Amino acid sequence: MPGAIYAEGLVKTFGDVRALDGVDLDVPEGTVLGLLGPNGAGKTTAVRVLTTLIRPDSGRAVVAGTDVLEHPDEVRRSIGLSGQFAAVDEYLTGRENLRMVGRLYQMRAGAAKARADELLERFHLADAADRQARTYSGGMRRRLDLAAALVASPPVMFMDEPTTGLDPRNRQELWGVVEELVAGGTTLLLTTQYLEEADRLAHDICVVDHGRVIARGTSDQLKDRTGGERVEVVVHEPEMIDDARDVLARYGVAGAGRGEVSVEEHTRKLTVPVTGGAKLLAEVIRDLDAVGAEIDDIGLRRPTLDDVFISLTGHAADRVEEEGEREPAAGGRKNRKEAVK
Ligand SMILES: Nc1ncnc2c1ncn2[C@@H]1O[C@H](COP(=O)(O)OP(=O)(O)O)[C@@H](O)[C@H]1O
Ligand SMILES: [Mg+2]
Repeated sequence: MPGAIYAEGLVKTFGDVRALDGVDLDVPEGTVLGLLGPNGAGKTTAVRVLTTLIRPDSGRAVVAGTDVLEHPDEVRRSIGLSGQFAAVDEYLTGRENLRMVGRLYQMRAGAAKARADELLERFHLADAADRQARTYSGGMRRRLDLAAALVASPPVMFMDEPTTGLDPRNRQELWGVVEELVAGGTTLLLTTQYLEEADRLAHDICVVDHGRVIARGTSDQLKDRTGGERVEVVVHEPEMIDDARDVLARYGVAGAGRGEVSVEEHTRKLTVPVTGGAKLLAEVIRDLDAVGAEIDDIGLRRPTLDDVFISLTGHAADRVEEEGEREPAAGGRKNRKEAVK
């Protein structure tokens, strides 16, 4: 049986760009799928197709048991969409925003009011409920946007880069809210550029690049596939990097010498894939000592999702760190309204 979100062979082109190039997805009910990929990978396009905002050129999708192309209106009633760019009305208060969404869903005034109050409480916005949204911080806006997507208690949620641009504290707080939501049984498709976000929230991860799913599995499965353990050393003096590299090259698992040791000059960190575990560490320490390389830090570690990503895509994940760095996308608000109709 297909999951709560199911897609098969989705293709979507914009001129010469194949934003989606044959994407298959299957998200079991009550689980979280993390769609992980760099800028321009096709994440938003996938979300827009699955939430009925655009039609694919080919392929099919079923969300909450309903075919997205055949019965878009019915799909819209079963989903919530929370965007990368807060889709709130700046000049309404938090409370008014949520009531308005309730009314868009044709809730009775009393029910819309009660639901708004409940969500304001749950998203720690009660104190700010009667202030215009334009006075909110980035984190508060994001929480209000998420609350708005949840007004109608949809069984299936889509979140497009929900924490991009948030500072670490706000990101942590939003993760907590998402975890509560999922504990309540909601199926969630989340797009992100943040590996730690996928690691923490997603049961399954699809890594996308250039409109294709290039890897899928749990976070652990992806890490295992990327390779085994590695020794990481931070030397005290920049001058010792070269000697340390010679030492580590002897321990590389592939016997490929210096080429196997990766070096991050500015942090004085050297990394080499190994087998042999903790026993090996003692030998490495002894050898580094023998060449006079003082060690600030040494450890054995498994690949992170960052390593997975780099090994799959050949580049590190792009990130947008500054809060409010980007303006809301033109049309984002309109699309949201279409989605809640
Ligand atoms: N409306 C559009 N018109 C033209 N090109 C688009 C449009 N939407 C997306 N694209 C292009 O499709 C590709 C995938 O975009 P997108 O799905 O937004 O990626 P992501 O969300 O992963 O950053 C990009 O190359 C982007 O420039
Ligand atoms: Mg996007």
